[in-house]
Amino acid sequence: MLCEEYIKIKNSLNYSPHVRFLAFQSYLTSHSLQRQLDGISYNFDDKIVADIGTGLGILPCLLKNRKAEKIIGIDSDMELLSAGSSLMKDNNACFICADGFNMPFKDASFDAVFIRYVFQHVNLSNNFLTEVKRVMKDDGILIIIDIDDELNLFYPDLPKRSENLFKIYSEYQKLKGGDRFISKKLPSFLSANGFRDIKVKPYTTTFFSKKDNDFNFSGLKDAFLLIQNELELVKNDLFREKLIGMAEFHKGLNDYFNFLNSKDDLFVSKTEFVIAGKK
Ligand SMILES: C[S@@+](CC[C@H](N)C(=O)[O-])C[C@H]1O[C@@H](n2cnc3c(N)ncnc32)[C@H](O)[C@@H]1O
Repeated sequence: MLCEEYIKIKNSLNYSPHVRFLAFQSYLTSHSLQRQLDGISYNFDDKIVADIGTGLGILPCLLKNRKAEKIIGIDSDMELLSAGSSLMKDNNACFICADGFNMPFKDASFDAVFIRYVFQHVNLSNNFLTEVKRVMKDDGILIIIDIDDELNLFYPDLPKRSENLFKIYSEYQKLKGGDRFISKKLPSFLSANGFRDIKVKPYTTTFFSKKDNDFNFSGLKDAFLLIQNELELVKNDLFREKLIGMAEFHKGLNDYFNFLNSKDDLFVSKTEFVIAGKK
């Protein structure tokens, strides 16, 4: 089973921390991604599909039942691609190592292009979208999935030191050219770059109350572990850039963990967006 394979990578010391982090993220978000893919009415039969910034290839893996002729996962990180390709057993999918700003494909190569969780890391003022558009066929469809941290809700309020830590992490991502508040900006960005028929679909993951029968408290714990892993990956950069001291960093994480365990009724909600447009 695919998701178990991702957990094996997450738990294996043969992989570097950033590969293991992405394996964990791929695993934790796979159900929600599958639901979003199932909700896309586009007919992928016999189509040539690209997934730009594919990482470990979770999207090509989950798209395998849609009968595309070919799914190409593109990423600039060879280490991620080689870990991902060990999981990829379908012969209609393959991986190519390339920069999304300068891809080794002819004009009009793809019927459909996916870009998931990449715009939050890529500077919008660069020519990324021009290059994406170049490789799309006329009438081709672009499907973006991304976050907007402005729509993360907590009740009661997050502890101040955790809020501060998350704010610093956003600032750090911005310093590197990214944006954790990106989704709301993408529709106008697509429109300004000549895309049409732009559609926006928000979807929300919400946890409430561990007393609730339907409530999956391990989901909350996993969400914590994910952000903890993400922050652990960049903490030395945060210290080097003097964005936060080591003590404040760990207090912020500890407070968040205690916050998640503190109450029977806790509201935690995160909204992401599927944004589609035609060339
Ligand atoms: C957060 S990961 C998302 C991976 C995957 N799309 C997913 O949903 O799990 C962002 C990915 O974008 C890739 N990436 C960032 N900038 C890129 C670029 N200029 N060209 C190609 N890939 C890029 C990174 O290497 C990384 O694998």
